[in-house]
Amino acid sequence: MCKELKIEFSHTLVSEIHVGKVEELLPTLLPEGRVVAVVDRNVRHLCDRLGVEELFVVDASEEAKTIDTAAKIWSCLVEKSADRNTFLLGIGGGITTDLVGFVAATYMRGIRFGLVPTTLLAQVDAAIGGKCGVNFGGYKNMIGCFAPARWVVCDVNLLSTLGHRELRSGMAEVIKTAILGDAALFALCEQNNIESLAGNDELFGEVVRRAAAVKCAVVQRDLLESGERKKLNLGHTLAHAIESLTREYTHGEAVAIGLAYVAAKSLNGGLLTQNDYQRIVAVLQHYDLPTSVDLPEDELWAAMGHDKKNKEGRIGWVLPTGIGELVISCQ
Ligand code: GLY
Repeated sequence: MCKELKIEFSHTLVSEIHVGKVEELLPTLLPEGRVVAVVDRNVRHLCDRLGVEELFVVDASEEAKTIDTAAKIWSCLVEKSADRNTFLLGIGGGITTDLVGFVAATYMRGIRFGLVPTTLLAQVDAAIGGKCGVNFGGYKNMIGCFAPARWVVCDVNLLSTLGHRELRSGMAEVIKTAILGDAALFALCEQNNIESLAGNDELFGEVVRRAAAVKCAVVQRDLLESGERKKLNLGHTLAHAIESLTREYTHGEAVAIGLAYVAAKSLNGGLLTQNDYQRIVAVLQHYDLPTSVDLPEDELWAAMGHDKKNKEGRIGWVLPTGIGELVISCQ
């Protein structure tokens, strides 16, 4: 099983997304010459397994996703005499892939890099589309840039050691992607569950490939998020507010609450049918994801008002109008 997707930003800027076995794909993708890896501590063993030189080990937490950690990686690159031909490989979850993209985009004004995301969330979202950066001043991803990886290898076998909570959280991003652009993927989510997906590499690979394909199509048309890419923020307006107020939820769980919220907003505004609203809430619950939150409404509204994606003080909403369709609005 090996499925390839391509994002062609321009003739010279192409990002390939490969869904398949990392051991088979990596030897065909790694360039000749020096390759060094920045790897998440939880999957450090993969450097040996893949035969790549370990440069830096990331303790993947939001606290470590800082300019200081980026500077430590830059220092390692300097110490190891990495030059503009060195290829940086990032192996890990979204924190690691965001950091690696940022370091690679800035070291010597940019070196080539590839990513092996090891969480479902990173495979279907974080590692694809070139958003990279670090947290700063108390805000997530405040410093960063758009720098697409040369290639991304998504291997569902790497997800087998993830706990159910992490897999369910990743499914929230899959469901988000299905709502915004792939009704057949939504149906696949409804017909399956974590156990049936995790037990069937072919099927799980297809779910990852379909979700990645939706994201690739959107970012190919709007890399810099000046318009259509805002679709990918479906459910994230409330999710970011929840994450800024409490540590109780994973990102995916916060997104699930955000998805249920925008579905209700669409239903109440006459944009979504009762049937589609119920399908959205039901599929989230099917993956044991939360669909409501017990936080003071005024604090949530205040936090949503601070979202860096707002424009001229107006909160940006992405609202589903069907399964596979949505509108972007501001209020
Ligand atoms: N995760 C949203 C985006 O890549 O635009």
